[in-house]
Amino acid sequence: MPAAILLAAGIGARCARPGDKSPKQFLSIGKHPVWVWPFLAFANHREIDQIVVATLPDMVDTIREAIAKLSCSKEVVVIAGGETRQESVRLSLDVLSKSNPDFVLIHDAARPFLTAQIISDTLDSVRKYGACTIGVTASDTVKKVADGVIVETLDRNSLVLVQTPQAARFDWIVKAHEKARQEGLSVTDDAAILEQAGHKVVIVQGSPHNFKITQPEDLALADALASIIFERV
Ligand code: CTP
Ligand code: MG
Repeated sequence: MPAAILLAAGIGARCARPGDKSPKQFLSIGKHPVWVWPFLAFANHREIDQIVVATLPDMVDTIREAIAKLSCSKEVVVIAGGETRQESVRLSLDVLSKSNPDFVLIHDAARPFLTAQIISDTLDSVRKYGACTIGVTASDTVKKVADGVIVETLDRNSLVLVQTPQAARFDWIVKAHEKARQEGLSVTDDAAILEQAGHKVVIVQGSPHNFKITQPEDLALADALASIIFERV
């Protein structure tokens, strides 16, 4: 059965606003903190068997208590993540190696608008191809720049903005992370780790709503969207 990893161990440096007492994933949108929404999406999806949440070391107990109150029927393990996102993933994979799931979905806790449909589409694709990532086509034209000046206009039709979940066969992703570590490769997503290990990573169509809260402006947008999307929840 597939497992999910929820990454909530970042410090949210780019999103920090004066007065915020905690990183972005712990701030509330609607009636829950940001991280709870994607957690619930995994917890309520019948095909996800087990969830690992990687968080900041001083938040492990708080997150465990919060999850206990959500009365989730799945097996959930909360761990302290690492210094980098890559390290948080690797530590989470280590935990899962005991149960050895067939597939794993890796998701940023800073993307609250994860849906059951996105999870199902990711599962369909990973079962078929072995490795995939959610992505959206770029609606703006993307330019390559140097020193603030455009040097190239890229062909929009060949560009995709990748999101999470990213998913892979468990054996592939474990080996790919090990290889990345041995070679000192440092990247910002798991698709890159799989690519470097020689795997084809298939793109699964996502939604612009599945954006990552990265800058302070994204929090205002997430708040507004939460009042529409989560009102029913
Ligand atoms: N993340 C993690 N462990 C880290 C760093 C990041 O689990 N050591 C998680 C974040 O909590 C987030 C996701 O990875 O859910 C995507 O990372 P990003 O948006 O870069 O979040 P931060 O690293 O927290 O933000 P910043 O880079 O602005 O500091
Ligand atoms: Mg980061």
